[in-house]
Amino acid sequence: MKLIVTGGAGFIGSNYIIYTMKAHPEDQVICLDALTYAGNLENLKSVENNPNFTFYKEDIRNREGVYKIFEKEKPDVIINFAAESHVDRSITNPQIFVETNVLGTQVLMDACRKYGIKRYHQVSTDEVYGDLPLDRPDLFFTEQTPIHASSPYSASKASADLLVGAYHRTFGLPCTISRCSNNYGPYQFPEKLIPLMISNAEHDKPLPVYGNGMNVRDWLYVEDHCKAIDLIIRKGTVGEIYNIGGHNEMHNIDIVKIIVKALGKSEDLITYVKDRAGHDRRYAIDPTKIHNELGWLPETMFKDGIQKTIQWYLDNKDWWENIVNGEYQNYYKKMYENR
Ligand code: NAD
Ligand code: TYD
Repeated sequence: MKLIVTGGAGFIGSNYIIYTMKAHPEDQVICLDALTYAGNLENLKSVENNPNFTFYKEDIRNREGVYKIFEKEKPDVIINFAAESHVDRSITNPQIFVETNVLGTQVLMDACRKYGIKRYHQVSTDEVYGDLPLDRPDLFFTEQTPIHASSPYSASKASADLLVGAYHRTFGLPCTISRCSNNYGPYQFPEKLIPLMISNAEHDKPLPVYGNGMNVRDWLYVEDHCKAIDLIIRKGTVGEIYNIGGHNEMHNIDIVKIIVKALGKSEDLITYVKDRAGHDRRYAIDPTKIHNELGWLPETMFKDGIQKTIQWYLDNKDWWENIVNGEYQNYYKKMYENR
């Protein structure tokens, strides 16, 4: 099988490539990535010399460039991870989110129609469902929950999902969609909660907790997400949506405290800052469908996954120090100074 993995130099995409090339060494994997601020070829060092791996620096918004790659490579399966992925950035600059996440998805699906593929898989998010109240722990997102996005990021992902559904129904494109909860693990860009707190704590910098820290996210170890996607593209039913999540809900503040403790730092570093605009209160996935239909279950418990992740960041300081000492500093100042 020949796969094009878009956004394969980012956090989840690179974890997916590393996972799938081990699990299916006979497959050919093509990474198509524009290498935005979030894309990093360092993430793919362990596979770069594998003869079954190819990299193209290309933008999914560039129709001509994308078509050329499809024409040359004739892929069987496309997995679209490429996206602008950070809610805070979508609040300061929504435009690029619509361009990449919606129009980029359209270009990819047009390429799939033109050149013919066996499967187009859209990597979506539980954030398309909006949020759940904090005082209703009995409520979960199912695949039937109506789309109700809160941020420009989630609205752009929801729009892309609608377009994928339309391409399936109108043009018969063989599509699947997965909607996963928050991921954590190696290679996550340090603007997201867990790596940001690890890198700040290591530098004894304040740990900026939005609002009162009681917002809830449903955390899944990234490799479990990769395994779920692998199952969906091989065994999932065309036209279906699959929710992915491991019933691991945590308050933000509790995650920050776990990190502080694991690193032997003081809780005095925790600083409550102005809340995020439109901040979603709680995400919680009901993964019954993917469990019943495809036999997927998460394998990494949070208590183990978070320790593995913290250890990875301690063992790979160069990887994130290069990021936090570079251009990212300007972003950090803009987001957190005077907050
Ligand atoms: P990321 O920001 O770490 O990586 C995104 C990758 O896409 C980068 O390598 C970047 O260079 C590339 N990219 C961005 N714009 C592009 C463009 N125009 N053309 C080609 N490549 C482009 O994101 P991530 O956290 O790895 O998320 C991957 C996907 O999973 C996204 O679609 C996201 O919506 C979804 N998702 C993420 C999470 C999470 O917790 N991180 C949870 C559920 C779903
Ligand atoms: P994030 O990692 O940005 O993921 P998402 O917004 O997609 O869930 O944030 C996770 C949670 O952590 C979210 O409720 C916002 C909060 N948060 C902070 O409290 N401080 C921070 O510096 C960041 C980046 C996030």
